[in-house]
Amino acid sequence: MRLLFFAGSTREGSFNKRMARLAQHIATANGIEGVFVDLAEYEMPLYNGDLEKHEGPPKAALEFRALMAEYDGVFIASPEYNSSITPLLKNTLDWVSRVPKEHGPDVYKTRVFAIGAASPGYFGGMRSLLALRQVLEVGLGANMIPQQAIVPGAASAFEEDGSLKDEMRQKFVADTVEALAVAARRFKA
Ligand SMILES: Cc1cc2nc3c(=O)[nH]c(=O)nc-3n(C[C@H](O)[C@H](O)[C@H](O)COP(=O)(O)O)c2cc1C
Repeated sequence: MRLLFFAGSTREGSFNKRMARLAQHIATANGIEGVFVDLAEYEMPLYNGDLEKHEGPPKAALEFRALMAEYDGVFIASPEYNSSITPLLKNTLDWVSRVPKEHGPDVYKTRVFAIGAASPGYFGGMRSLLALRQVLEVGLGANMIPQQAIVPGAASAFEEDGSLKDEMRQKFVADTVEALAVAARRFKA
């Protein structure tokens, strides 16, 4: 059983990349195989139906779909932009959803997803998680666990070593990772 971790931001100092890395470290520390990837390595053009018609999904979408297919569970750390998810994350999820069936089974319906958010704001990106849950669960038919974690005040929430200063917040991330691992294991069986 293996988990994939990524964030809906490619910003160098991204708080959500920090959160995804933290979740991956927690998994590894608990004997769960997990890998963090940066979406910067999978740059895709903005979805356009004409582009898709003439060229098909971009190579990065095929590669990212193939990467997701290698893992049993996926953790996404989602930044909040105007109460929703980032264009980067939506575009990535959209393109992956357009990869034709001949490339393999639907990656959304065949693994388990968990979500988290970090924001400098007071709500910790909570509202982006509502939007992301709608996209994944309602839009894409993904299997999702109910647990989720947020990091409010993200600009000062992390220690130098990547952990969270607030023990309760750290525990929420750990509990979410554990629940994802349990669900992914069960789903795979
Ligand atoms: C267009 C835009 C809209 C934003 N809207 C929100 C918002 O609704 N709620 C919030 O908590 N933060 C909002 N922010 C602040 C982001 O949470 C902040 O930039 C955060 O650092 C982005 O995530 P990252 O650090 O992973 O790149 C917004 C930022 C941008 C650029």
